[in-house]
Amino acid sequence: MMRGNYDNSAPFYDRLSRLIFGRALINAPVHFLPLIPANSSVLIVGGGTGWILEEIARVHPFGLSITYVEISARMTDLSRKRNVAGNHVVFINQPVQDVSLSAQDVVITPFLFDNFTEANVPPLFDHIHQQLKPGGIWLNTDFQISGKWWQHVLLKSMLLFFKVLCGVESWRLPDADKQFQLNDYVTTGKQTFYGDFVVTRCYRK
Ligand SMILES: C[S@@+](CC[C@H](N)C(=O)[O-])C[C@H]1O[C@@H](n2cnc3c(N)ncnc32)[C@H](O)[C@@H]1O
Repeated sequence: MMRGNYDNSAPFYDRLSRLIFGRALINAPVHFLPLIPANSSVLIVGGGTGWILEEIARVHPFGLSITYVEISARMTDLSRKRNVAGNHVVFINQPVQDVSLSAQDVVITPFLFDNFTEANVPPLFDHIHQQLKPGGIWLNTDFQISGKWWQHVLLKSMLLFFKVLCGVESWRLPDADKQFQLNDYVTTGKQTFYGDFVVTRCYRK
């Protein structure tokens, strides 16, 4: 199985997440969904079980052309069963590194980059960056360490758990925000959740 493939956690991923974090890991990626323009093309990378498709449908019940790229076959199967209302969704069960689209209006990466090492984030970032049109928006949500002791404990426990179960490669959080800065993105919104442990940002290319 490829590294960072969440197949083994698919049957219980959402329940475990809600048990530990309540709705925080939903509320964060959902926060900036109202900024998605009507009738736009949206690339979602690493959407997991696909709950975000239903959250998008609540805010934008029709008109979106969504490409849903997920490396895990089991996660993709669960996602296909979601109610996407009037939006059109194409599911691609492949690593995003193997997928090339063009001129997307919006990119959404919920808890994707924290699966990668500092060294592997730039090529991944660059690949996704190529798919977003100039002026497009990128909604990125990740964990962050803001200095509280329990954040370190929780983060290490999660990374160890998903390393054993899903082959996640990282031991610490990479600095994904740095890639946005290096590529001249403008941060148009930022909100933290769960005692600052989770941060979601809206960037404009
Ligand atoms: C931490 S989970 C987050 C799932 C979901 N976004 C959520 O918030 O519930 C990361 C997801 O990214 C997927 N993933 C990891 N590497 C990927 C890649 N290279 N291309 C596409 N998906 C990937 C995993 O299979 C997993 O479902």
